[in-house]
Amino acid sequence: MDILKNMLLPPGVEHLQMLPVLVVFMLWAHLPFAGIAWICNLLSLVFWRRNPAAARDLGRVAPLTWSTVCIFIVLPLASLLFLFQHFLFGEMVPVGSYILRLTLPIILGFLLLALGQHRRQAAFVAAGSVLLAGGYFFFSSVMNLIFTPEKWPFIRRPMPDVFSVTVVVHFKVFCLVSVLLAGAAILFVLFHWPEKRLPVDAPHAETLRRMALAMVSGGSLLLPVFMIWELYVAPEPALSLNAFWLSALVLVLLAVLAIWSVTMLGRSASRWIAAAFVGALAVSGLLILKDHSLQAAANQEHWVLLNESSARALAEWQGQRAAQLAKNMVADDKLGEKIYNDRCTACHRFDQKVVGPPYNQVLPKYAGDMEKLKTFLRNPVKVDAAYPAMPNQGLTELEVASVASFLLKKHDEGK
Ligand code: HEC
Repeated sequence: MDILKNMLLPPGVEHLQMLPVLVVFMLWAHLPFAGIAWICNLLSLVFWRRNPAAARDLGRVAPLTWSTVCIFIVLPLASLLFLFQHFLFGEMVPVGSYILRLTLPIILGFLLLALGQHRRQAAFVAAGSVLLAGGYFFFSSVMNLIFTPEKWPFIRRPMPDVFSVTVVVHFKVFCLVSVLLAGAAILFVLFHWPEKRLPVDAPHAETLRRMALAMVSGGSLLLPVFMIWELYVAPEPALSLNAFWLSALVLVLLAVLAIWSVTMLGRSASRWIAAAFVGALAVSGLLILKDHSLQAAANQEHWVLLNESSARALAEWQGQRAAQLAKNMVADDKLGEKIYNDRCTACHRFDQKVVGPPYNQVLPKYAGDMEKLKTFLRNPVKVDAAYPAMPNQGLTELEVASVASFLLKKHDEGK
């Protein structure tokens, strides 16, 4: 991934503060939609033969069109690739190439799902679902890797650590959140959304409603177990008070969702569907935020190093630019004359004393030594006790060179 690496400068300080915000944003854009589309398509396979109408309706919940695939899948994944490349700048860990490797199967998986739904081919949907399961398992392992900087120097394999308990727990949390979200999305799209909802007399409506409610209750009852497990196995340096608060908030939301879904299972129609959907989205959003706060705490050391290396690189770069500028700078006699007329004649003439000494008297000592004159003009030091000190004229490098060259030329001509 040297090509990728060479495209980047180390991120600057302000830049670093933006990175996590962007990462969280991209995960928000990607994960909920991806989870809903994946689970709904998997479920539609279950109904494919027995109940084609229900299978088709499940395919409608998170429709995979060119625009949804671009907005929710391709764009966020491509951005994450660059954001993590930036964030892990200078580390040995090849997170960028891992993300690139998992982006391809995920995009391919969604394309297969779209194709399968479009052509009514169960085999495509099945292949897409399997690819996605693999892709997101890999995704969990990469996210897990980001939490554990102490492992970075030892990672050389083409795949990060996939067989650790933490990765499995992480993946389970992703699956459960997706089930919960998919359940809420099915209810929202097929039973609430005015243009998309099922006709009241659709024969499979009750089956889908009950299934979706069961998904919400199952997800909200099981998630706490895995969430607590996840906190338990998180590496110590990653734990922060923020992560605990966010987890507590999620637990409250999950309790409310569980009570709601169980209550609605006992009724013939569901109410407060939109609120439940927002609640499920909030659960997934807060979990992403919690992961981010774990990661920020785990990566503090890397952060400090990154800040330092960025300051060093910036200074180096500015030095190079100044050297380049100085080399390319050509003194401009017109500019020199203008500065002389505007700024110097107030105190200097060539042949007469004003506030400062006449140039004819002081310039001979600079003849042939333009650099010395430039040094004086950049920062006038006290020379002659008979005069007050000359105030610094605050000239730019180009102005100094131009006026110095003008003065020496004019002095030569006058001889
Ligand atoms: C506010 C008045 C003032 C202005 C404006 C001023 N100078 Fe001077 N300059 C002085 C004085 C006073 C001295 C004598 C300083 C000393 O001997 O310490 C001096 C000294 C000098 C010297 C001689 C230094 C030496 O080594 O003896 C040069 C050359 C010079 N000025 C160039 C300039 C140029 C070029 C400008 C316009 C960009 C300029 N000055 C504008 C007041 C001024």
